[in-house]
Amino acid sequence: MDILILVNKLHPLPENFQVRLAEAENGKLLEYSTAGAYKAMKNSAAADGVFFKLLSGYRSVGYQKKLWEENVRRLELSGMSARQAQKLTGESIAPPGVSEHHTGLAADIVRPEDPDAELSFHGTKQFLWLRENSHRFGFILRYPQGGSSLTGYSYEPWHYRFVGKAAEKIKNSGKTLEEYLTLCKKCGIINDI
Ligand code: DAL
Ligand code: ZN
Repeated sequence: MDILILVNKLHPLPENFQVRLAEAENGKLLEYSTAGAYKAMKNSAAADGVFFKLLSGYRSVGYQKKLWEENVRRLELSGMSARQAQKLTGESIAPPGVSEHHTGLAADIVRPEDPDAELSFHGTKQFLWLRENSHRFGFILRYPQGGSSLTGYSYEPWHYRFVGKAAEKIKNSGKTLEEYLTLCKKCGIINDI
C-alpha cells in the first residue's frame, strides 16, 4: 500500500483498498508497519517517563458510520437542525468512507486516563513529547491549528498520521499533508523519499 495515500473529504478511500492490520495496543489495530512504529514510539516515550494510550486506530466504514450518526443524533437532540448537526459533526468527524482511520495509518493518542479525545490534550506532557519526537517514528500531527481550510477538520492535537520516512520532511516544511503532496507532485520531492 502507498504509505502516503491521501484520504480526505475530497479523496475517499479507494474501492479496492486493502490493508494488512496488526494489533497495536489492547486489541486496537493499526496498519502493520504503523503498529510497529507506534509500539516503538510508545516504548521510547515510556523510557522518558511519558505514558499515553491509543484511543482509536483502524476503523471500518461501518464503525465510522456509527460514530457519525451518533454524533449527529446527539446534536439534533440538543436542538440543532439536521443540517446544522451534520455540518458541525463534519468539522471533527469524517463521514463514513472518507476517514483516514479506514487506512489504519491514523492513531488517536491520548493520556492513559482520558476517556475521550479532547482539545485539552494540547499542552500536556504527552502532547509535548509527541510534538518533539513523533516524526522520528514516522508520525505527523495531521490536523494542525489553523489548517481546517486545507485539511477539512478543526485542530486535533491527538490525531497522528503515519507517513514513514517523509515525516521529518513534512514536519520541517510546516505544511499539511494536503499541501505537501501537492508540492511533491509539482517538484518531484516524492522521488526523494
Ligand atoms: N476525526 C477524524 C477527522 C476522523 O473522524 O477521521
Ligand atoms: Zn483521529
